[in-house]
Amino acid sequence: MDVVVAILKELRRRHQLDNIVICQKDKKMGLYKRYLLPHLIHMGCGTESIQAQRKKIVPLAEGRVLEIGIGSGLNIPYYNSKRVDFVWGLEPSEGMRRKAKKNLKMSGVKVKLLNLPGEEIPLEDNSIDTVLFTYTLCTISDWRTALRQVHRVMKPSGNLLFCEHGAAPDKSVLAWQNRINPIWKIVAGGCNLNRPITKYIHEGGFTIQWMETLYLPDSPRISGFNYVGVAKKV
Ligand SMILES: C[S@@+](CC[C@H](N)C(=O)[O-])C[C@H]1O[C@@H](n2cnc3c(N)ncnc32)[C@H](O)[C@@H]1O
Repeated sequence: MDVVVAILKELRRRHQLDNIVICQKDKKMGLYKRYLLPHLIHMGCGTESIQAQRKKIVPLAEGRVLEIGIGSGLNIPYYNSKRVDFVWGLEPSEGMRRKAKKNLKMSGVKVKLLNLPGEEIPLEDNSIDTVLFTYTLCTISDWRTALRQVHRVMKPSGNLLFCEHGAAPDKSVLAWQNRINPIWKIVAGGCNLNRPITKYIHEGGFTIQWMETLYLPDSPRISGFNYVGVAKKV
């Protein structure tokens, strides 16, 4: 049974709060988010072309690594265990962490999952060598706070590695991204199609050292414009 619904029912019973209405719609959305969505995200983020993007960036991670929104752990096989000491994997979704635990069993690197969002990084200032974002900046609701936190914990010599989808450079594609985004966001667990990824990275206090952009060959153009690159703290 949906935990949220159970908690609400208990609150209503204990405090006689008749104004708490438990909607069937919310219950269904809760089930969707907890059970079906993690599976859909895992499948959607595991296509051949997305895996090819991961291969370009994840092996560059070194030292103490912080992965924001580790999801189902699809990056794990691409870490170079000779270069990486340790990975902190932040992931606020219980369903995604459940899936990640299976992947962690095959991991050649030590990974510690943290049940927290990117906005609440519990690590010390200047303590991380590599921060990795893959297909997560599209989803983090308070991306400014998350990037501020990343800036705080990353060493001055550290690297921010990113591999994201976002706003397309073609006006017609961007217009469709803007049109479809409100519905997409609901269905895709808060993911936005149209975020200007490089703008966010710059506003977060980073400068991009290297970047490649492309439309993924096996994705619709509205969700397939990709940015992969390396940024440093300004
Ligand atoms: C599209 S998935 C990508 C997962 C993984 N990074 C990958 O490349 O496969 C987006 C992930 O961001 C996570 N997420 C959502 N809000 C977040 C937040 N505020 N901070 C960190 N991660 C978040 C979601 O739970 C989900 O696992």
